[in-house]
Amino acid sequence: MKKLKFKNGDEMDAIGLGTWKSEKGEVTKAVKIALNNGYKHIDCAATYGNEAEVGEAFKEVFGKGEIKREDVWVTSKLWNNAHKKEDVIPALKQTLKDLQLDYLDLYLIHWPVAFKPDVGFPEKAEDFLSLEEVPLIETWNEMVKAKEQGLVKHIGVSNFSIEKLEELMADTDHTPEMNQVELHPYLQQNKLLEFCSKHGINVTAYSPLGSGDRPEAMKAADEPSLLENPVINKIAKKHGASPGQILIKWSEQRGTAVIPKSTNEKRIKENIMSAGYQLDEDDMKEIADLDYHFRYVNGKFFEMEGNSYENIYND
Ligand code: A2P
Repeated sequence: MKKLKFKNGDEMDAIGLGTWKSEKGEVTKAVKIALNNGYKHIDCAATYGNEAEVGEAFKEVFGKGEIKREDVWVTSKLWNNAHKKEDVIPALKQTLKDLQLDYLDLYLIHWPVAFKPDVGFPEKAEDFLSLEEVPLIETWNEMVKAKEQGLVKHIGVSNFSIEKLEELMADTDHTPEMNQVELHPYLQQNKLLEFCSKHGINVTAYSPLGSGDRPEAMKAADEPSLLENPVINKIAKKHGASPGQILIKWSEQRGTAVIPKSTNEKRIKENIMSAGYQLDEDDMKEIADLDYHFRYVNGKFFEMEGNSYENIYND
């Protein structure tokens, strides 16, 4: 499997286990299955509401001693209601407590969007704080402090457009080390990848399988299916792989990290085996033609009349 390199020499396995949408009652088992079957990268976030259950798996697996904490890469993310400078490190400490860890490998600002501290998920314009009230640089400077304090080894962002990255980078000497974004054959993000590569920012692909299990309210009525795409299925057949494996391999082969979510034992094992396939030039060309610029997670749920957020992705 490919590894992503960081400036200090640290390396992160390209294929990780995603935990967004993993039920509390299933995620402990899923993480244990993953760690016992070769995964060395687990992607978490406070807002997924299941970090305590992920933490139970870490405690059990690391406690046994066969797999060491330092051999696994753990990412988590700061939720939008903790962007104020006094809230960042306490939110991180809660995540560490829930995950039963004393450091994270990577901590990300989850969205370039801020909520009031008591808001879990916004329902009205008043639930938000504008980026004038809480500038991203205020939040970022606390992320830098968290790194200096040794609570996290690397810091980055998620759901940042090129413009948002440029704005942040203009205000700091600490370039984000990662941008985690939606990325798959229907949303290939070529411009963003080029920008990130130029600035030494690693990229992680989320929703690589099209996130079919996300809430109905986040779905468009006529959205296209990635797993059922005929080109993906044809390539899968050619390699004797599953469509999911082709989608995961495609991201890995392009040099990004990729975090397919599964709580199903067979699919957790299947997904990490994706690394063993190799897509040829014809496959890559055919998949390149599928870039419809289609977002499954379009951020529209943060754009409300009367708040200051519009066109979060600038597309
Ligand atoms: P499950 O958890 O039952 O395996 P994404 O990573 O894009 O958010 O997609 C997650 C969705 O894809 C979940 O519904 C998950 O279901 C399903 N899934 C995970 N791995 C595979 C696979 N290899 N083939 C088909 N579906 C998969």
